[in-house]
Amino acid sequence: MRIPTAAAAFLLIFAGAWQFPEVSADSSLRDGDRIEARVAALVERMTVEEKIGQMSQVQAAVGHIPDELRAAVAAGRVGSILNEVDVEVVNELQRIAVEDSRLGIPLMMGRDVIHGFRTITPIPLGQAATFNPDLVRQGARMAALEAASTGVNWTFAPMIDISRDARWGRIAESFGEDPYLTGVLGAAMVRGFQGDDFSQTGNIAACAKHFAGYGASESGRDYNTTNIPENELRNVYLPPFKAAIDAGVATLMTSFSDLDGVPASGNRFLLKQVLRDEWQFDGFVVSDWASIEQMSIHGFTANDREAAFEAASAGLNMEMATSTYRENLPGLLESGRIDMEQIDAMVADILRVKIRLGLFEDPYTDPAEFPAIANEDHLATAEQLALQSLVLLENRGGALPLARDEIGSLAVIGPLADDPYEQLGTWIFDGDPSLSQTPLQAIREFLGDGVKVTHVRAMETSRSRTTDGFEEAVKAAKESDVVVAFLGEESILSGETHSRADIGLPGNQAELLAALRGAGKPVIAVFQAGRPLTLANILDNVDALLFAWHPGTMGGPAIADVLFGVESPSGKLPATFPLMVGQEPIYYNQKNTGRPATPEDFTHMDDLPARMPQSSWGFASFHLDAGFKPLYEFGYGLSYASFAYSDIEASPSEAALGETVTVKALIHNTGAVEAEEVVQLYVRDLVGNVTRPVRELKGFQRVRLKPGERREVAFTLGPDDLSFYGRDMKPVTEAGEFHAWIGGSSAAELRAVFTLTAAPDGSE
Ligand code: NOJ
Repeated sequence: MRIPTAAAAFLLIFAGAWQFPEVSADSSLRDGDRIEARVAALVERMTVEEKIGQMSQVQAAVGHIPDELRAAVAAGRVGSILNEVDVEVVNELQRIAVEDSRLGIPLMMGRDVIHGFRTITPIPLGQAATFNPDLVRQGARMAALEAASTGVNWTFAPMIDISRDARWGRIAESFGEDPYLTGVLGAAMVRGFQGDDFSQTGNIAACAKHFAGYGASESGRDYNTTNIPENELRNVYLPPFKAAIDAGVATLMTSFSDLDGVPASGNRFLLKQVLRDEWQFDGFVVSDWASIEQMSIHGFTANDREAAFEAASAGLNMEMATSTYRENLPGLLESGRIDMEQIDAMVADILRVKIRLGLFEDPYTDPAEFPAIANEDHLATAEQLALQSLVLLENRGGALPLARDEIGSLAVIGPLADDPYEQLGTWIFDGDPSLSQTPLQAIREFLGDGVKVTHVRAMETSRSRTTDGFEEAVKAAKESDVVVAFLGEESILSGETHSRADIGLPGNQAELLAALRGAGKPVIAVFQAGRPLTLANILDNVDALLFAWHPGTMGGPAIADVLFGVESPSGKLPATFPLMVGQEPIYYNQKNTGRPATPEDFTHMDDLPARMPQSSWGFASFHLDAGFKPLYEFGYGLSYASFAYSDIEASPSEAALGETVTVKALIHNTGAVEAEEVVQLYVRDLVGNVTRPVRELKGFQRVRLKPGERREVAFTLGPDDLSFYGRDMKPVTEAGEFHAWIGGSSAAELRAVFTLTAAPDGSE
């Protein structure tokens, strides 16, 4: 609830409940109206400088406190500091804020805790491959505990930008291409960071970012312009943010990008209409690094003063790193272009979060209250996440799992087999590579002394262009029973700014695989990467291909367990793998178009006759060279078991609008091993007042089945699950026919049909 602060203070005084709320230790004062009263009372007492101070986040000096920072905090000119993780320094900064400043308002201490703190979990894209919200929640919980033990009370995660273009480096930080999966996992991460009550020790405030549309950066080039029609924005890019807000996320961060010509940091449609008016968000919004100032570079504002005006007018509460607010808001207030009520409301949002965080009651951190960093539980969580994130893309002739008893020698080849740093992936400011267990270490440990393991790095990095190390690698391959090649992308090749126009295996890695193939031994490839890669050119040279993303601290043991069949792989792709980069952006939940392609329409350009009249052939939506399908579709991933789906049923098959429909099917483990499968439900709304996607993920469940075991899996679809934003930009569930598929990927074929009917009088 956002109430005018002055009115709330008045009510409280009137009710005889006045006190100096900012110094009260009564935790009941964190509830509802009382929080508003505390906020209002504080705002009433603040000077302009103190208000603008709350709206300013400054970069830490890291490890010490320069005199200017000390003075600024003591004067109440700083609301938040980012990037300080030395607990003594953090406590001292809090002490200055609480004891030396006039109003004693504690600081938000922000840090990018993206996928772990010291113990690193898989990159978010890898976590998405688990399709396991509870595990994602546990990973965030563990990261929160480790980060909070250093005084960090605010993380800039989850990143919930829909990412439909693998060229974009930041796809690594995202949960992939699907709005539903991203919403579920984003909400799970928020719950992990914040807990049920985020004033409890060890819980930290989360930040859903980047609001909004950043993932649509043209051609996947970072920071680029986005072009997102409002209907697509509402149906695809915004739902994860709504899910995060429903999960109670405390803060949001704006995007660097512009939307429909208006940079996100000055975008009143996003920050006011959608966020505040429609969604009633009552937390606060922070800019991205210098993104207010950069509105002038975008060419949206002429100078810092105008940038501050636009950002504040949009209701952007806090500026990260730069000082356009500090320098310009006083003048804008004086000139009357910004009024005090606007500023008060923005400051109130920040104070509300600080109170909810319990910072006023306990601003200090005692590391002794926290479990040890990287303790057994944390490593176990990181290992489970890594394990469930592994996606088996190919497995010809049952090349995997490797039978330990039948292997006398193993060649472990490649630059990513034994690199404790690279397996951690992007955004690991605080990650500790010395904790990493590499695949090579884990394989050696698993196999013990009886098996000869020869490791040849072969290439210095994934990008190396020499073949100098190939001879030694091939020699090792020839002398071994099996080759396991650890290739892919180092962490530097994905993440912020690190977009690629060619998403094939970098450097000479494809040549290395071809050379290894020549050794005549089974070749198992394990790829680590921050994005989907184009892989068609290497498939002939591998017998099995396991995609490991950047698996984090415990990547090694997780990979070893899958290689040797201790566990069956169970990850599923959260993003489409294209056949060729030219298909990007590519995603399963596309529109049908008026001319969808079928196999009959398509002939590859190499197979077209030399002279062929244009009019005689194939007027459908495909590429002459790549066709119309990806290499691996969203939701795809193999198992050591095999699963048969049958008996799908939607009931009732005819329901009135507003009623629920249950879709269920039988899943049968027809394989020889116990394994987990991610059962997925997709729905298509055949006709809409705006065109609807060919399929949309509407539910998923992870099930574990013994060999031969059958299980019924049911999903319930309520009216909201079938709604979409229509032509009038309002949510609607329409009567008509729906198709539902249950299966192991977005290409599932087992289908049921149901119909929603309008009420007899036509009302909804
Ligand atoms: C820029 C990034 O875009 C954002 O995601 C991050 O949280 C901030 N820098 C702070 O490091």
